[in-house]
Amino acid sequence: MVEFSTARINPAARRTDCLVLGAYERRELTPSARRADEAAGGALAQVLADGDLSPAVGATALVRRPPGLPAKRVVLVRLGARSSLDDRAFRRAARSAARAVAGTGSLGAADFLSEAEAEVGAGAGGEGGGGAREGVRDEAWRIRTVAEAYGDATYRFDECKSEKDPAAAPRLRRVAVHSPGGGADARAGARRALAEAAAVDAGKRLARDLGNRPGNVCTPSHLAERAAALAEEFEALSVEVLEEERMRELGMGALLAVARGSREPPKLIVVEYAGGRPDEAPVVLVGKGVTFDSGGISIKPAAAMDEMKFDMCGAASVLGAIRAAAELRLPLNVVSVVPAVENLPGGQACKPGDVVTTLSGQTVEILNTDAEGRLILCDAISYAERFDPDTVIDVATLTGACIIALGHVASGLFTNCRALGDALRAAGARSGDRCWELPVWPEYEEALKSNFADVANVGGRPAGSVTAAVFLSRFARERRWAHLDIAGVAWESGKNKGATGRPAPLLVEFLIDRAGR
Ligand code: BES
Ligand code: MN
Ligand code: ZN
Repeated sequence: MVEFSTARINPAARRTDCLVLGAYERRELTPSARRADEAAGGALAQVLADGDLSPAVGATALVRRPPGLPAKRVVLVRLGARSSLDDRAFRRAARSAARAVAGTGSLGAADFLSEAEAEVGAGAGGEGGGGAREGVRDEAWRIRTVAEAYGDATYRFDECKSEKDPAAAPRLRRVAVHSPGGGADARAGARRALAEAAAVDAGKRLARDLGNRPGNVCTPSHLAERAAALAEEFEALSVEVLEEERMRELGMGALLAVARGSREPPKLIVVEYAGGRPDEAPVVLVGKGVTFDSGGISIKPAAAMDEMKFDMCGAASVLGAIRAAAELRLPLNVVSVVPAVENLPGGQACKPGDVVTTLSGQTVEILNTDAEGRLILCDAISYAERFDPDTVIDVATLTGACIIALGHVASGLFTNCRALGDALRAAGARSGDRCWELPVWPEYEEALKSNFADVANVGGRPAGSVTAAVFLSRFARERRWAHLDIAGVAWESGKNKGATGRPAPLLVEFLIDRAGR
């Protein structure tokens, strides 16, 4: 894990393994880069003049042992035209710079990209409608974005490899992020930005580690253990784990139906963060914790089934988010509720056609055992009622259909509350962990009609993500509620296969905003 610090840094005098400096279009350097270049007798400008830095945003050039500077290296990063630098370009440049630095032998770095003013890109985050630009990202945002890029660039998951590959492990330990603003206010703001970045990074790492861990290790019991460890680590966190027997007493028939096919006992994990007034209604984050989803009796095809170990990434992200809230000591109350199960076929498994009674009292006909996420979530959402929450947000790798709708760019957002939807969309845009809204209209309820129960658990192919959300909305009832379908964003496939930690950054941003209100 990288340690972050921030200060107003003089690039010409800084003794560091690596300076990270920005270049705009053609031969235009950022102010700090110009300052370093003067001390280096024009060595950096020469790189641009020689055409050694591609004009593409995010392109980098490494200058070793720059003359006249105490720094061992300089990474020059292309930011593109100053007038068109928006948050998307800024983030791309920051991430690519961090990767370039992590690819050197540097133990420490000083990054000056935070001085480049980025505008809120038109349509970049969907904070507003189309065309017009909406102001600039402030210094705190820039510092945070730079720091978070280093967190991502240095994350590795190798706990299951018997030989750690030293070539693959970045040596980077310390990153200082330049804070261009003077004055006590700016310094305090910069420090807070950095604390937020560190907390998001730690939350995201937790989420990624849990997601990447194989299904035979990361079981429902493992999630419960990790939640307990988290509560040990932070004074303001407490944990309670409900066992199968308790769930039966309560009447969580849907959750228990999913668990039946597996030998792994289900767990309902409840982590509470008490940062607000005791009487303040909490935000409840419900995270889908299917530690492996085979589909059950409605079994999935074999191809890429291994990726269904990531079906607990919703759970991982709400644990990461509550960890960050605790680390930042946010003045609000948060509860994370994680229904954790393994979905397997077996002699006891639930079957298509089974009817179960949920905690809410509604009956559900299970037409497809692979639509298990909504079955565990509906009971968890009903359970959340006992906290008399102000807001309930559930997070789930819920439908393949969401990947068809939004690809791997944005989470699907569904809500019964305009203000909550706007707050989540804005938090997504600012954190770069975007979500985009789809409707939860009554017209879609038709698809979930059952001849044998109050509702069916699947609604056919059309609008599969919407009908899943509509199913959940029946259990949220009159609460302020939102659902994030993270099927497309929780992990990457292919050669970079691995958990992303999303949407922990979005959730933390949302909680920070809320705490500030
Ligand atoms: N965990 C899956 C959703 C999923 C599939 C996420 C692929 C990411 C990649 C979920 O439990 C599931 O199987 N959903 C079904 C629902 C269907 C049976 C209505 C799906 O999307 O196919
Ligand atoms: Mn499934
Ligand atoms: Zn699933």
